[in-house]
Amino acid sequence: MLEFHRLTQRPKDVAASLVIVGVFEERMLTSAAAELDAASGGLLKRLMESGDVNGRVGSTALLHQIQGLSAPRVMVVGLGEQRRFDAARFLRATREAHKALKSLPIETAASYLTEVDVPKKDGDWKLLQSALAADYAAYKYTATLKTKPERTELKSVLFSASGDSAILERASAIAAGVRLARELGNLPPNICNPAYLAEQAYDLARRRPEVKVTVVERDEMQTLGMGALLAVAQGSENPPKLVVMDYAGAAGKPVVLVGKGITFDTGGIDIKPAAGMEEMKFDMCGAAAVFGVIEAAAALKLPLHIVGITPAAENMPDGRSYRPSDVIKTMAGHQVEILNTDAEGRLILCDALTYAQRFEPATLIDIATLTGACVVALGAHASGLMSRDDDLAHELLIAGEQSYDRAWRLPLWEDYQSQLETGFADFANIGGKYAGAITAGCFLARFTEGQRWAHLDIAGTAWETGRKGTATGRPVAMLMQWLCGLV
Ligand code: BES
Ligand code: MN
Ligand code: ZN
Repeated sequence: MLEFHRLTQRPKDVAASLVIVGVFEERMLTSAAAELDAASGGLLKRLMESGDVNGRVGSTALLHQIQGLSAPRVMVVGLGEQRRFDAARFLRATREAHKALKSLPIETAASYLTEVDVPKKDGDWKLLQSALAADYAAYKYTATLKTKPERTELKSVLFSASGDSAILERASAIAAGVRLARELGNLPPNICNPAYLAEQAYDLARRRPEVKVTVVERDEMQTLGMGALLAVAQGSENPPKLVVMDYAGAAGKPVVLVGKGITFDTGGIDIKPAAGMEEMKFDMCGAAAVFGVIEAAAALKLPLHIVGITPAAENMPDGRSYRPSDVIKTMAGHQVEILNTDAEGRLILCDALTYAQRFEPATLIDIATLTGACVVALGAHASGLMSRDDDLAHELLIAGEQSYDRAWRLPLWEDYQSQLETGFADFANIGGKYAGAITAGCFLARFTEGQRWAHLDIAGTAWETGRKGTATGRPVAMLMQWLCGLV
């Protein structure tokens, strides 16, 4: 974890391993850059004349051993054209700067980017976003590497700013939650299986005594009638776990978060193609986000009652697997015909959503890497948001905008419900070719009647794809933004 501090020294005097300043295109210096330029006898201006520093948004140039400065390194970050500068460009420049830091042998960095005016954003926003960007870039996955990188590691980042110092505490807490979500997401499925998730919950409760953990085991699931969750799990040697984390930062009805915890999704008997199947270790990122939110809320001592529920199972093909055309009975009593064993997320979620209602939620939100269709619709930039409650939908959309962990709403109209009809059960677990993200939402909607409920499909946002792609920790930041707004 990075440490965050505010600083009051000017850039030429600050005792850090590196100073970050911004410049705009067309040779426009920010005030911090202008101060360095003056202290160095016009060096920055000369480098902009020569084109070595170009100011293009997100570009970085590293300068060493500049005469007249205390810090041995300066990173000059391009902010693009000044008149087009906005929150998105601020974030892009900040993220690129911190990414570029990653390869350097430095312990402390001092950023003056937080001094730059961002239209419609205040100092707190800049501080929070900068700190989260710094920690996001500093995170390294090492759990299963034999040779751990051992060079000097960045330990703290100092921000020049006038904002509230409490905001950096909030940033640390959220960063811890994001890190936990990322680490759980990244761990391989032979380590991070349902039992491991349950262990992690007990671990979290040891660290944060305000959190109480209960784990519902297979035999109790049977007693409760959780036929859908049990059906998904029956093809695996790893028994399912329903992990409940109760953070009582206040009395009263809780916000209940339900996260999909498929620790590996082969597709089951409707097996997935080999190419890309390895990315299905990330199919528990909804659960990981719930862990992250509970961690962050507890670290912040948020005065809220939050219950996190993560149904965890592995979807495997086996002699005991559930089959296409099986009819299973859910905890809510609905008979569901399985028409695709790869539509397993909604099955473990429906029983968890039914179970969640015993907590009498003030608000109920599920988070799930639920459909490839959502990735087709929205790509990697926005999570899919579905809700029949317009107020809740708006609150979450706004929290997404503010945290820049954004969602986009898809309709949950009744019109789509008929796609789930079948002649062999109350309804089926898939809705056919069209509107796959929505029909998955429609399935869940049948288990949340009368609830103040929203569904977040994070299939496109929970991880970056590719060999070196890692879990993103989304939407922990969005949910924390929303939760902080409730107090
Ligand atoms: N975990 C997947 C969804 C997914 C796919 C997330 C690709 C991210 C990337 C989910 O369990 C799944 O397999 N969904 C199916 C549903 C279909 C069978 C109706 C899908 O999206 O193809
Ligand atoms: Mn699946
Ligand atoms: Zn899945």
